[in-house]
Amino acid sequence: MKFFLDSAKIDEIQYARKMWNIDGVTTNPRHVRNSGKPFMTVIKEIAKEFEGTTNKSISVEVNPHLTDPEAMCQEGMKLAAMSKNFAIKIPATEAGFKALWMLTENGIGVNLTLAFSAAQALQAARLGAKYVSPFIGWKEANGEEVSHFIGEIAQIYRNYNFKTQIIVAAVRNARQIVEAALAGADIVTAGFDVYKDTFDHPYTAKGLKIFADNWDATPYE
Ligand code: E4P
Repeated sequence: MKFFLDSAKIDEIQYARKMWNIDGVTTNPRHVRNSGKPFMTVIKEIAKEFEGTTNKSISVEVNPHLTDPEAMCQEGMKLAAMSKNFAIKIPATEAGFKALWMLTENGIGVNLTLAFSAAQALQAARLGAKYVSPFIGWKEANGEEVSHFIGEIAQIYRNYNFKTQIIVAAVRNARQIVEAALAGADIVTAGFDVYKDTFDHPYTAKGLKIFADNWDATPYE
């Protein structure tokens, strides 16, 4: 399973790349705003960071005000021309699905975002999305059951041999990463702090202290 970093902060992206060999980045308008920089500045900066790589994916979202498929498609084409690594995030609306289809026909990789139902994930796959992003954290915050959600999408994709990759999004903790893996997700995208938690465990720290104390009490030669 691949790990994408859900962030538009260049310092986090650089750290995640160098320390964790992160497989890609997902951005959205909120992450871009939190970077404190203009949209174009941020996405150019991220594109540059991954320049020359072929297997690293960067998701960039079209203007969320757009409601016309043609306009979404045009903006998607413009963004996709900026970097070979870009996948274009399109929202899961009827117009968005049409734009996804148009972009796919033009050879552009689309990440169907804001997906909250297996039916939306099925539409994304049949229209040729490269990725689909089910937002489990937002669903849970709304009091909805998510334990079968990702598994259902994975099963549907297996049934019909769809190539669309499932990016489990809005992930809030390390356990959800494990659950996404068990459900058969291809990718998770999570924030910097969530990934930090996947490397540590209190028992590891406790065990290390025990071993260090014993090391100190033992002659080396
Ligand atoms: C995914 O691609 C989204 O950017 C992301 O997961 C949105 O959710 P969050 O910002 O609430 O985590």
